[in-house]
Amino acid sequence: MKILIIYDSRTGNTEKMAFMVKEGVESTGVDVDLKKIDEASIDDLPHAEGLIIGSPVYYGLPTAEIKKFLDESIKYHGKLDGKVGGAFCSSGGTHSGAETTIIALNEALMIHGFILQGTSGKNHYGAASVGSPDDIDLEACRKMGERLGNLVIKTSS
Ligand SMILES: Cc1cc2nc3c(=O)[nH]c(=O)nc-3n(C[C@H](O)[C@H](O)[C@H](O)COP(=O)(O)O)c2cc1C
Repeated sequence: MKILIIYDSRTGNTEKMAFMVKEGVESTGVDVDLKKIDEASIDDLPHAEGLIIGSPVYYGLPTAEIKKFLDESIKYHGKLDGKVGGAFCSSGGTHSGAETTIIALNEALMIHGFILQGTSGKNHYGAASVGSPDDIDLEACRKMGERLGNLVIKTSS
């Protein structure tokens, strides 16, 4: 079982989060393929049971590179149904687009038929940081990876 994590990051904040999400998934025994957006291929999608996407917040939305990847994912439209999905982001400020960015990513995943899991605690829609992630943000990333790894195990059995 494998989760593909793809992320964009210009100044390293989302990248730090991606590394922690990876650790969380791996703690469940599920394998991880971690790729920065410029190395990611649409053709990786059918080979993973889960997809987690991380993006910086750009004008309240994911970056253009992440959106391009999503648009190209139409190649597998209808073929990703029932896989596990999740999203996380890094913003520059508070109340300035983190949730809209995560929700935009979650919407795209839902259109593909992915199964998403929210949380009743903080970070309902997915992990977020303001600027460089602090220890609390990194723990939210780790936990999100762990929960989604466990969800892959549950939904694959
Ligand atoms: C083109 C551009 C647009 C941005 N738009 C927003 C925004 O709408 N809201 C916000 O909080 N931060 C915004 N930021 C700041 C980034 O989201 C923030 O610096 C983030 O931590 C960068 O992540 P990275 O280090 O992974 O590249 C923007 C940055 C750039 C370059």
